[in-house]
Amino acid sequence: MKLAVLGTGGVGQTIGSKLVELGHEVTMGSRSADNEDSRAWAQAAGSGAAQGSFADAAAAGEIVFNCTAGGASLEALEAAGAQNLAGKVLVDVANPLDFSQGMPPTLSVCNDDSLGERIQAAHPDAKVVKALNTVTAAVMVDPGSLSEPGTILVAGEDSGAKEEVGALLRAFGWPADSILDLGGIEAARGMEMYLPLWLRMMGALDTAAFNIRVVR
Ligand SMILES: NC(=O)c1ccc[n+]([C@@H]2O[C@H](COP(=O)([O-])OP(=O)(O)OC[C@H]3O[C@@H](n4cnc5c(N)ncnc54)[C@H](OP(=O)(O)O)[C@@H]3O)[C@@H](O)[C@H]2O)c1
Repeated sequence: MKLAVLGTGGVGQTIGSKLVELGHEVTMGSRSADNEDSRAWAQAAGSGAAQGSFADAAAAGEIVFNCTAGGASLEALEAAGAQNLAGKVLVDVANPLDFSQGMPPTLSVCNDDSLGERIQAAHPDAKVVKALNTVTAAVMVDPGSLSEPGTILVAGEDSGAKEEVGALLRAFGWPADSILDLGGIEAARGMEMYLPLWLRMMGALDTAAFNIRVVR
C-alpha cells in the first residue's frame, strides 16, 4: 500500500520506518521538498521510502499520517492540499502542545474542542481518525516492547476508516482487544487532554516508554 507520513520528527520517522518495514511504500512530507531530515530518513529506510513536500506526500499516499507539530498541523495540512486528502483516511497522531511558555506545555485547544475536530472541520472530505497520540513514538510501533501493550485509543466519524486504521495498528503489534474505539472525532478532546497526565506519569516513571491499560 502507498502511505504518506506528514512530518519529519521522531514520530514521522518512527512510523515511516515501521511502515516501510511492513512492505509499504512511504512518502515523507515536509515544508520543503528537500528537507535534510526526510532525505536522510529516505536513504536509511530503504527502497520503499521517498520524500517530498507535504503536498507531494499527501498526493502519493492512500492513507495519510499527520505527524506534524500540533500547533502547526492545520497549516501543514493546508499545504498538503485539501484535494490530496479528500476521500482518504487521515490518521491524526498530533497533540496540540504549546511550549511557548516553557515546560510543562499547555494545550492550545481543549475542553470543548480539539485538534482532531479542527482537522476534520478543515478537511470535511477526509476521514480523520485520531490514534496513537497517547503513547511515545517507539511504543506506537512496538507495543510489545512493554511488559504488556496496554490500551490504544481511536476516535473518528467513519467506521470503515477506523477499521483500516485498526488493521495498521494490529500490524504494528497492537492486539485486537487492546484497541478501544471511543466513538466520533469529538472523543479526540479527551485523548488530547490526557497529555498533561501522560507528561506527569513520564516524570514519575522517569521514562516515556509506558502505557496505561483500561480494565473493567
Ligand atoms: N514525540 C512523541 O513521542 C509523540 C508521541 C505522541 C504524539 N506526538 C505528536 O506527534 C507530532 C509529531 O511529533 P514529533 O516530535 O515527531 O515532531 P514535531 O517536532 O512536533 O513536529 C515536526 C514536524 O512539524 C512540522 N512543522 C513545524 N512547524 C511547522 C509550521 N509552522 N508549519 C508547517 N509544519 C510545521 C515540521 O515541518 P518540517 O519537516 O518542514 O520541519 C515537522 O515535519 C506532534 O504533534 C506531537 O505532539 C509525539
